[in-house]
Amino acid sequence: MKIPLAIIIIAASLNAAETNISSPPAAVLTIDPNGPSKPFSPVFAGLMTEEINHSYDGGLYGELIRNRVFQDNPTNAEGWTLTLSSNAEATMSLSEKYPLTEKLPISLKVNVTKAGTNAAVSVSNEGYWGIPLRPETAYRVSFYAAGNNAWQKESKEDPEPVLFRAPLTVSLQSTDGKTTYATATSPVLGGSWNKIDLTLTTGKDIPPSKDNHLVISANAPGTFFLSLVSLFPPTYKERPNGNRIDLMEKLAELKPSFLRFPGGNFLEGKNLPDRYDWKQTRGPLEFRPGHNGCWGYRSSDGLGLLEFMGWCEDLGMEPVLAIYAGYSLRQQAIQPGPLLEPYVEDALNEIEYLTGDAKTTYWGAQRAKDGRPMPFSLKYIEIGNEDDFDKSGSYDGRYAQFHDAIKKRYPGLQLIATTPVKSRKPDLIDEHFYKPTDWFVKEFTHYDKAARNGPKIFVGEWATTDIPAWGKGKEKRENPTPTLREALGDAAWMCSMERNADIVIMQCYAPLFVNVNKDAQQWKPDLIGYDALKCFVSPSWHAQQLFNTHRGNEVITATLNAEGKEPAFPHSVTRDKAAGLIYVKLVNILPQSRVVRIDLGKGTELSGEAELTTLSSSDPNAVNSLSKPDSIMPTHKKIMDAASPYNLTLEPNSLTILTLQLN
Ligand code: AHR
Repeated sequence: MKIPLAIIIIAASLNAAETNISSPPAAVLTIDPNGPSKPFSPVFAGLMTEEINHSYDGGLYGELIRNRVFQDNPTNAEGWTLTLSSNAEATMSLSEKYPLTEKLPISLKVNVTKAGTNAAVSVSNEGYWGIPLRPETAYRVSFYAAGNNAWQKESKEDPEPVLFRAPLTVSLQSTDGKTTYATATSPVLGGSWNKIDLTLTTGKDIPPSKDNHLVISANAPGTFFLSLVSLFPPTYKERPNGNRIDLMEKLAELKPSFLRFPGGNFLEGKNLPDRYDWKQTRGPLEFRPGHNGCWGYRSSDGLGLLEFMGWCEDLGMEPVLAIYAGYSLRQQAIQPGPLLEPYVEDALNEIEYLTGDAKTTYWGAQRAKDGRPMPFSLKYIEIGNEDDFDKSGSYDGRYAQFHDAIKKRYPGLQLIATTPVKSRKPDLIDEHFYKPTDWFVKEFTHYDKAARNGPKIFVGEWATTDIPAWGKGKEKRENPTPTLREALGDAAWMCSMERNADIVIMQCYAPLFVNVNKDAQQWKPDLIGYDALKCFVSPSWHAQQLFNTHRGNEVITATLNAEGKEPAFPHSVTRDKAAGLIYVKLVNILPQSRVVRIDLGKGTELSGEAELTTLSSSDPNAVNSLSKPDSIMPTHKKIMDAASPYNLTLEPNSLTILTLQLN
């Protein structure tokens, strides 16, 4: 099999004759392709996700309207503005008198006392720091609207109501109101709720921009109500209620094997009522109330349980479903025993909802009603999140109760504990690491001696954080995404996990996403940044993408003897047996280059073709950003005459991946 051609191909040579292999001191990496090998987990690299930093609302979830069901703030219509043209008079307020459904009790009431053909009353939505518009694009608008009715008179709110029986004009406009990019008109409103669906299509000459609003205007007096106002751009794979295309493409390029969801702390909630209650995130949007997330803002739950599963299917990922296990962040622990039983039952129902037969199980039938008759395949369940924070020490008992109930009904499921437990043997243990670069570099052999007879290891959250992500000092960090140096810390840590990919069978970086608007961020660093219009990937994304596309299916024997008094540095050697490729990964955290002699010993023939991939910069603090998305990018060189042994020069501040082709 041929090595795939790289983006940039530069003829280069690693021939021993051309480099001075005798000039000491050089570290020596001895690779023994015929020595013992370890299997490489087929589900090694995945994604971790939760609603943090506006990951979904104002992020991956395609919805462009902020506060579409008017429940974000009980006292004002956050995200919405009333605009009156001269001669028009109106007020806008939240109303509980005219609920759309029992789950959406609040609507927006617009009381127009004066309006006419040239006197418009408009309510506009600002989106999540703007509404992105692109040329020749169809945007789907939908909302419920109702003109006022007799009930208003009965309530004495308006003794002689003027009935609103007019159409509404819906448009996409620049924020300053000077340019209208697309417009459409609704039917005449009746006296009860009606769903209005419109398509707004932009022209071919408009420049892509995000400083836009959705505007709903009236030119007649009377009172009308709005609920569930939604605006969707085209979505990934054209899924209704689907995901943003550019972000999904960046995830697809990472080649993830699994998705860990829905948290993280978002699963637990600050308080018990704010936990992730999957039942509230299913079914038509008219019945999804949203809930208070734990990161300081309300979640619409438009990206709900079935949408998570659709996301997995779109990218070919195994779902790793975290279930609420009776602990919320403010030390609210439900002790094992009868009090915990309803939560265990709830988890069993959730599993049945996803995997149960549509005809023979209650929850399978509910899933079918929600639009998905075919059961999902589900292999991994995580019981809770970071339960070592539970100071009551109840996790061992809570884990056992969930474990026994789930294994009894679903013996094939792999269960993940969030901290070691004594009462049962979980299939996997989830370990989290947020550490500085130096720690990860020093710990590149962290898992070399891990017990092979215990539970497998799932590193369910990890990230290099040279400036703390939380607590004292976190405000010093400006960049929401990792520096190159942090990406090298990440690469070092990936070496430590890859070297042991027989026991560390799954791993995922966290957090995944950040909306880079200052008010949107709760945690830094994050892997992928974006605003309403554009996105960029961090150096760490590149490091992960390179690891995941140079993976192999076994870990092979390799020993690095460092030069002089220097300690050995992070490295990992894997092989794709069928393709006859050896992947050598080396991380040089030093500000100067270093030479490594690569020696495959006798009896291993190389084809001569190799590929050299490097992620580096003279500035270890370099970052990518919206304005400079490509500051840090990998380079690829093709080598035509690779031979063993030879000297490989590692650039300063670099991750180097050498792909060797065996004969
Ligand atoms: O990744 C951010 C947070 O870090 C997660 O929500 C939590 O599990 C961890 O403490």
